[in-house]
Amino acid sequence: MSASIIDGKLIADHYRQQLKTQIQQLKEQGVVPGLAVILVGDNHASHSYVKMKRKACSNLGIHSELYLYESTLTQEELLGKIRELNEQDHIHGILVQLPLPEHINPITVIETISPSKDVDGFHPVSIGKMVTNQDTFYSCTPLGVMKMLEYENIPVEGKHVVILGRSNIVGKPAGHLFLNRNATVTYCHSKTDNMSSFTQQADIIVSAVGKANLIGARDIKPGAVIIDVGMNRNEDGKLCGDVNFEEVKEKAGKITPVPGGVGPMTITMLLYNTVKSAEWAHRNRQN
Ligand code: GUN
Repeated sequence: MSASIIDGKLIADHYRQQLKTQIQQLKEQGVVPGLAVILVGDNHASHSYVKMKRKACSNLGIHSELYLYESTLTQEELLGKIRELNEQDHIHGILVQLPLPEHINPITVIETISPSKDVDGFHPVSIGKMVTNQDTFYSCTPLGVMKMLEYENIPVEGKHVVILGRSNIVGKPAGHLFLNRNATVTYCHSKTDNMSSFTQQADIIVSAVGKANLIGARDIKPGAVIIDVGMNRNEDGKLCGDVNFEEVKEKAGKITPVPGGVGPMTITMLLYNTVKSAEWAHRNRQN
């Protein structure tokens, strides 16, 4: 039997509608959620991501400010801007688009953002809270994956989840979010021997490697849930994920397509974190 396709755009729209209601309620209390986006240099992909993020903000009524700098910006100048934004009450989220030019240390930059405005969920305080299963800002793509599964009523507790990839932004945090939901988690990565022996046992596979055709039908268990976070170009230049979709969809239970799967959820979770931050800040001011 053919798998059912998880429609990321539909699910993202569902969560955006919920956010609209929350934003309206905040506005009635005099609060407009605000996001500051900092972009350094002329990386083409970064410019287009930032444009998409700001457009999504504007569609929902979230205030956004863009700080665009030449790649000659010094690290001290960047840290100074972040410290200034940390103090501004109308800014609830600060996002420094990565990658940064080589002379700027991304760890120092991330650690300068106030944890209360860390809507990317990259700050060590956010990561520590995530690992200890506390409420905090979670990295947007893994959070989007969890929200997708929630929407689809896919059970996680007790399931074997195999995460492919161990990046700080996707793979590692995804494993912790599943662990927090009582899944049994296995990480596979570039040094894993016989990866297929793990994926074949998985109830849920989350692939965040960035390699087209990494997963084929022979690598999965019948009925498994396949979440494809990969963003690659195939031989014809077409956008594709890590999973051989045509082949795997005949054997999987549920599967996300690329494009139209996890992608639309990531920006939605940035909006989600920004609104959450605005709600927290407003509540703290009232107490
Ligand atoms: N570069 C690629 N993905 C991301 C992301 O999620 N956040 C930031 N700040 N930069 C990125």
